[in-house]
Amino acid sequence: MTNKKIRNDKLLIRALNGEITERVPFWFMRQAGRYLPEYMKLREKAGSFLDLAYNSEFATEVTLQPLKRFNMDAAILFSDILVIPHALGQELAFRKGEGPVLTPVNNIMTLDALSMDGMHDHLSPVYQTISNLSKKLPTEVTLIGFAGAPWTVATYMVGGRGSKDQAETRLMAYQDRETFSKLIDLLINSTSEYLIKQVDHGAEALQIFDSWSGSLPADEFITWCVEPVQKIIENIRRVYPNIPIIGFPKGAGAKLKNYIKKTKVTAVSIDTSMSTSWVRSTIQPLCTVQGNLDPLLLVSGGVALEKAVYHILDHLKDGGHVFNLGHGIIPQTPTENVKLVSDIILNYRR
Ligand code: CP3
Repeated sequence: MTNKKIRNDKLLIRALNGEITERVPFWFMRQAGRYLPEYMKLREKAGSFLDLAYNSEFATEVTLQPLKRFNMDAAILFSDILVIPHALGQELAFRKGEGPVLTPVNNIMTLDALSMDGMHDHLSPVYQTISNLSKKLPTEVTLIGFAGAPWTVATYMVGGRGSKDQAETRLMAYQDRETFSKLIDLLINSTSEYLIKQVDHGAEALQIFDSWSGSLPADEFITWCVEPVQKIIENIRRVYPNIPIIGFPKGAGAKLKNYIKKTKVTAVSIDTSMSTSWVRSTIQPLCTVQGNLDPLLLVSGGVALEKAVYHILDHLKDGGHVFNLGHGIIPQTPTENVKLVSDIILNYRR
């Protein structure tokens, strides 16, 4: 595998690497999606969410849609964290109003039925989307690839669907540690290969989503969130030593400090619950932070929204900062509010 040079002069890459940039770069988690009428139109045409995600031509267009309206500094590959279990052979469907539904992998038999053999063939449309995007994106825009962290992906694989407390998966981790470890190892290996391939095809930064890391006790957080992500990052950096990697252990709270030190992420995404003054004093000295506007403020709009945006910009201006939300954009979000926030950030000077 060639060790290709990663461009490091783009605004977002410079900010991720710790530079206090002249302007704060920004993008929004789930910036491509249902709040955009042009997205709904293309999803309709594709038939289903998965048909859209696996159609490189459509996925390329969907990735570019938000940039045409709001001038973000990054495009995030349009795909989903659940394409990995799908590529390993687990059945997956997205049903309207229900979210993802998978045939549970919760014992050694169902786990042993999975395999990495056909994985890259299955994922080839995703790699094609990345190649298309790296040709089409404006030169100053950064292309972000992503994957789910093993713990979060495992919660969907074991439970067979999303859940509020991830109880089934936590139970499996306690009751059948050996099988659960084997599942996590499979996810470490497949996710490492997947992310390396994304960089091979043109991803310039990576984000690892651990949306459910907040549901684990402290020791288990180390075992199932920190260590797997640490291994994935070691594997990627062996091939791409300079690729910026953003970790997002949502709900980690004070455990974020140790997460940063152990995993050696380049930057962290911070969720809505974290106070910007704590982030400024405790996290920003360790690495660049990304965040953390409440997605509901983007739905609400008005004075509350403007105040919150300036509050975040003012509080985090003296360290590495990428403006983002604390979680993904909500489908009910009015596009005018996204435009308003984008314009504030584009005009703000530190
Ligand atoms: O951010 C982006 O614009 C890139 C695309 C992206 C999607 N999912 C597209 C998507 C990314 C980065 C994800 C990550 C993802 N997927 C996560 C981690 C981040 C988070 O939100 O916590 C998780 C947990 C998933 C799993 C998943 N995918 C769920 C639970 C759902 C259903 C809930 C929902 O919002 O509908 C999805 C579906 C999904 N993934 C949609 C999109 C645009 C909506 C599908 C549709 O069009 O109906």
